[in-house]
Amino acid sequence: MTIIVTGASGLLGTPLVAALRGAGERVVTLVRREPRGGDEAFWQPAEGVLDPAVLAGARAVVHLAGAPIAGRRWSAAYKSELVRSRVEGTRLLVGALGRLSQRPEVLVSASGIDFYGDTGDRVIDESAGKGSGFLPDLCERWEAEARAAGELGMRTAQLRTGLVLSGRDGALGKMLPIFRIGLGAPLGTGRQYWSWISDQDWLAATLRILDTPGLSGPVNLTSPTPVTNAEFTRELGAALRRPTMPVPVPGFALTLGVGDFAKELLSGHRILPAKLTDSGFVFTHTSLGEALRAVL
Ligand SMILES: NC(=O)c1ccc[n+]([C@@H]2O[C@H](COP(=O)([O-])OP(=O)(O)OC[C@H]3O[C@@H](n4cnc5c(N)ncnc54)[C@H](OP(=O)(O)O)[C@@H]3O)[C@@H](O)[C@H]2O)c1
Repeated sequence: MTIIVTGASGLLGTPLVAALRGAGERVVTLVRREPRGGDEAFWQPAEGVLDPAVLAGARAVVHLAGAPIAGRRWSAAYKSELVRSRVEGTRLLVGALGRLSQRPEVLVSASGIDFYGDTGDRVIDESAGKGSGFLPDLCERWEAEARAAGELGMRTAQLRTGLVLSGRDGALGKMLPIFRIGLGAPLGTGRQYWSWISDQDWLAATLRILDTPGLSGPVNLTSPTPVTNAEFTRELGAALRRPTMPVPVPGFALTLGVGDFAKELLSGHRILPAKLTDSGFVFTHTSLGEALRAVL
């Protein structure tokens, strides 16, 4: 019995695959290049290529693939790529699962807290509805494709992930060079909430979801202690022992730099991990300062 992982080379996929293999699981990763050995199988989501036979005998699928959200300028063409890679890639995967006579038990699929949109200071858990805007619409379509595996008799869980703190890359990795030279600054008003999770807690939560039959549907992967962007800026500067700028980066300057992604950086997400907490999951990192010191 194997576990299939897509997006396995990414920030979250790499440690997940290592942890699963470390625990003795057989993992087959779906790769978009020539496979290098029996632990890899080819798929090409952009061209609709996936042989269902490579999924046969799997007990679980973890689907993380998608064009990178952070760190690129969001042109109209790139926004289409963000949608296509997630919505069509998930449809392709679930379509292939539907052609198996014996299906895996569970599809754990990536999503984001961006589903909720800009919720300001409101405290939000999984019972909240979809927000409005590009990323909420994207997440809704992405999750709907993944939920279709439920009609095949599989348990499905959608990982509504917050900002994952990892020293390797991701959003934090992109902030580090600026903060290291003392130019870190609040974004916009700095009052918008950011919901974060350490890479260690993300991994533990995902493994918990994978093996807990009662955890299904959308699950928020965020620490129970969201902070404002201004607090995040202060804590990151302190963790790096670097000063931060007292003057915030205005919204228009952010838009010039990163296009429509600026809206996401300026949006408030005060999200609680209600389902994880109710399931008895214990976070290792609930203090942002400690989490930053651990990952850095
Ligand atoms: N990291 C976070 O803070 C965060 C927060 C919220 C949601 N998420 C979501 O969680 C998932 C995993 O996150 P991550 O940080 O590990 O992402 P990542 O580092 O960008 O990795 C995503 C992986 O997807 C594959 N990929 C890249 N471009 C693709 C494309 N055009 N079409 C299909 N596959 C493509 C690549 O794997 P291969 O080359 O191996 O195919 C890549 O390594 C993503 O869907 C992301 O949106 C992450």
